[in-house]
Amino acid sequence: MRVRTPLVVGNWKMNGLKASAAELGRMIEGYGPELRWKVQMAVCPPATLIQTFCVAALGSRIWIGAQDCNADVSGAYTGDISAEMIADCGGGLVIVGHSERRTKYAESDAQARAKAEAARRAGLVSVLCIGETEAERLAGEAIAVIDSQLAGSVPDGATGSNLVLAYEPVWAIGTGLTPSNADIAEVHAHIRQRLVARFGREGEKIRILYGGSVKPANASEILGIADVDGALVGGASLKAADFLAIASVYA
Ligand code: 13P
Repeated sequence: MRVRTPLVVGNWKMNGLKASAAELGRMIEGYGPELRWKVQMAVCPPATLIQTFCVAALGSRIWIGAQDCNADVSGAYTGDISAEMIADCGGGLVIVGHSERRTKYAESDAQARAKAEAARRAGLVSVLCIGETEAERLAGEAIAVIDSQLAGSVPDGATGSNLVLAYEPVWAIGTGLTPSNADIAEVHAHIRQRLVARFGREGEKIRILYGGSVKPANASEILGIADVDGALVGGASLKAADFLAIASVYA
């Protein structure tokens, strides 16, 4: 028996309008009992769609979440939303520390950690992203970078029910490139070892997703690697057929 329930999360990034509820509807239709038993699925649409999607997904067991949150409960942060607001809409999870936030908005490990703590405060699960850039990998620094991100952004008190980690090599996001199976296995085993060293047996329960150019064509290979507990999917999560094909690897 698996220690951890596999999880496949769709990160829609800045894509989707009200009409996209039809695509979510197709995902809900395809997420039948044979799949529900085997794998948990989640969709993180843009903030404008969270409430609509939460209502549409009621009773379907597809989990709806957000792509980011502010660490504070409320206040003068024009444009931001808090973890409490996401929970208020019915959301169950939030992605924090995504590399696009880290690079385009200069977010730090400390901010990612504060957001993960905010998520826990609001009763949400955070999907905390880490991963090296191409230059860091080429310089042989991937593991060192991951260690420093883990130390800086994983909050104390992390458990298998309040935190999910996502290893997303920056150079694999949206590029069609993926690391070798051996490289994915090495990083995931390393993250697992660090989590167990810090959290003991609870560290065994924290799921570690792989993200970066996961498609139906490579999903079974990637999701079959030891310590890969699911996927964080960008582009291929926008179409129900592709997203369901990825999750169906577990069927
Ligand atoms: P792609 O699957 O489009 O490469 O995006 C990965 C990602 O950034 C998910 O958070």
